[in-house]
Parts: sequence; C-alpha cells; structure tokens
Amino acid sequence: MVTAEDELIALDRAHVWRPYTSSEDHENRRLLVVERAHGPWLITPEGRRVLDASGSWWCNNLGHGHPRLREAIARQAEHLMHCTFAAATHEPACRLAAELVDVAPDGLRRVFFSDNGSTSVEVALKIAFQYWQQNGRPRRKRFLSLPGAYHGDTLGAMSVGQVDEFNRVFRPLLFEVERPPDPIENRWEPVFERLLEMIRKSANELAGVIVEPVVQGAAGMRMYPPELLARVREETKRVDTFLIADEVFTGFGRTGPMWASEHARIAPDLLCTAKGLSGGMLPFAATLATDRIYDGFRGDKRRALMHGHTFFANPLGAAVAREVLAIYRDDQVLEAAKEKARKLATAIAAMTEVAGVTAPRALGMCAAFDVGAPGYMGSLGWRISDVALDLGAHLRPLGNTVYLVPPLNIEDADLGRLLEIVRESTERVLRTTP
Ligand SMILES: Cc1ncc(COP(=O)(O)O)c(C=O)c1O
Repeated sequence: MVTAEDELIALDRAHVWRPYTSSEDHENRRLLVVERAHGPWLITPEGRRVLDASGSWWCNNLGHGHPRLREAIARQAEHLMHCTFAAATHEPACRLAAELVDVAPDGLRRVFFSDNGSTSVEVALKIAFQYWQQNGRPRRKRFLSLPGAYHGDTLGAMSVGQVDEFNRVFRPLLFEVERPPDPIENRWEPVFERLLEMIRKSANELAGVIVEPVVQGAAGMRMYPPELLARVREETKRVDTFLIADEVFTGFGRTGPMWASEHARIAPDLLCTAKGLSGGMLPFAATLATDRIYDGFRGDKRRALMHGHTFFANPLGAAVAREVLAIYRDDQVLEAAKEKARKLATAIAAMTEVAGVTAPRALGMCAAFDVGAPGYMGSLGWRISDVALDLGAHLRPLGNTVYLVPPLNIEDADLGRLLEIVRESTERVLRTTP
C-alpha cells in the first residue's frame, strides 16, 4: 500500500532539488516527512514523534509551534503581512529595531534588516567595505577571517568562509580573503597569534575581520577560548578597523549568554543575527552597526548603502522576533537554560566512555563530539543518525561530528531521552565499526 508519506517522498525525489545533498543521497537516503512539530518534536503524518536534535538547522531556540509565537504571527497577519519599506515604515520593524538595540552589545545602535544569515553577512561586508571607501581610507578593501569559517552560501559570505566542501568549486568567483592555517590538535593560540600578526601587517588595507565568536558551527562545532577573541577585538581597535561578529548561529543564547561575544566581554562594530532572531519561525535577519559606522554613510545620495531586499523588515518576521525577545524576558530563557546546559555538558563529557568517541565539547545549549577524523565528508556520523532516527531522534551530523542543538527551553525529560538516543545510537554503530 502506498502511504501518504511514500507519496510525498516520491514527489520530493522527483521534483525537489535538495540543499547540500547529492542526487544519489537524495534518491537513497531516508527522508523524514514532517507534518507537524511541537516543542522539540517533529511529527510524521502517521503520528510518529521524533526529537529534533539539530534545532531545525540551528534556529529553533524556543521549540516548534510555541503558542506565543504562533499568536504573534496570527495577530500581525490580521493587520499587515507585508508592505514596502521604501519611504514607509511600520510598528513591528521600528519597535523591534529599538528592542534589538537594547539587548545588543554596547554601541550597536543601528539595525539593517534582511532575510537570512547569509544576507546579514553580505550586508556587514558591504557596509564595512563602503565605509572605508567614502571615509578617507579607500585602500581598505580586504577582509581577514578564521580558518574553517562558515558565514553562509552567497558569494561574499562564501569568500570569507573556508569550509572546502562548500567553496571549492566556486573559488574562481570568490574574492580573495586571507586567514591563518587551521589549528593543529585544537591548539588555537598559534592561529590567533597569526591572525593578530596579519591584522598588524595589513592594517592599512583592512576593511575588517569577521569571526564566528567562540563556536565555529559548520566547521564541526569547533570551540576556541574567548580570551583569544578578546585579543582580536583589542588589535582591531588598536589599528582602527572593524570587527564583524557573525552571531547568526551563536546569538540568542545558543552558547549561554545572549551573544557569544559576551564570553569575551567584547562588543563588535558590526553584528549579524538571524536563525534564533525569529525563534526559527520565519526567514528574518538583521545586521547591527555602531553610530560611527552609520554616520559614515551620512551626506548626499551617493553615500547611501545601495542594498535592500523586497522583504526588508517584513512585518510578520519583525512581529515574531519581538515576541521572541518578550519570551526571553518573561520566561528568563537564558537563566532557565543554565541547568539544562550543565546536564547536556555532563552527558556529552561522558560520551568518551564509548570507545571511538573523541573531543566531547559543550557550551551552553550546543554540544558535540567526534567519531572519526573531523571533516564534512565522514560517513560514521550519518550511520549514527540512521540508527538515531529508528530510536526517535533526527540528527544532522557534520560528517563525523555528531552535535546537539536542542531548544533552549527543552523539557528535562525530552533532553534526557535525546541524550539516551544519542548514546545508544553511537554505541551501536561504533561497536560494529572496525
Ligand atoms: C555562522 C553562520 N553564519 C551564516 C549562516 C548562514 O545563514 P543562512 O543559512 O540563514 O543563510 C550560518 C548558517 O548556518 C551560520 O552558521
């Protein structure tokens, strides 16, 4: 009998072009059909409940279908779903901008909206570049970034990124960006020493330095000491160039504090946010900038930032983002997540009891371990994810890195179940792997 799920999978395989997926994997790898979702649970048309371990690509910070977020979207939809932002404005966007400035690191007082993490990065790069062009330092055209960086899939964001599997084929289209070599055995000190040297050496040509603060997501949930980020902040200040913090993944409490930059007690000049900004409900993003940067665009028409998107400041996205901020305030989400983060860290540390597991790491509600040589193409993580799906959790490994980014407000029992499934699926696969 052909079920509703079979039919949808057949349609998907016939007509959808999947992200990051070879046609072979698309045709052969299992596909989870999701009809509904609630809290950390994805629910199939047949009513099977599966835990969403990847936070639906790292954005679902408050659980699926949060009643307040659903209501906020419905309320806003009654009034205004979208309208131009060309010489027009609306309440959700203005109030959200002010509320974001309130929770942002010091000095970030201007908000430029867009609709996904990659565009928020493109905007930051263009702002930094144009600022120097029209403020007396036109030689400042270059950017520095970190090894293994990932900042999105549009061409500018890819240029500052380095995950080889994403970038290799597009290299001729990307602009040149320098970065230090990869850490050896996770020793980050030499990487940052080299970065500081590069900043000093190229200061006169440097439009900015872009980093994922403290956790590099797509590189395999790699974590580096916040003190090193603090030193980059110091050096960028000393040579007077911009530090861009890409908090698309790490923002909204994913690593503990509201922004991962807070681990290093720094405030960047530009900050990119998306994903958790809308609670993972709608495509929505923002790039925040200091007054100094904004002021560098004052003057006649030719000094304006010539960038914008049709759905700039979309009212539904802005309304849901405002409600996200209200929930963080009312439910003290960050405070409440601390105990869950401890539980997650303890369970991940204990994963080394499983032979073959290495490098357990956790920060806030983000945890990972490796089951083989890191790298996006490793296959052991996928075998673990297949077993986990049978046991009731949807993992999306980064090659041989298995990671968990559950909602910050996940119920303790659900977190406990997720950790049991991860342990059991890892044990089963590694036991049978030579
Ligand atoms: C640090 C970082 N920057 C940018 C992006 C791109 O965001 P989006 O997929 O919304 O374009 C991502 C996505 O995972 C990310 O992790």
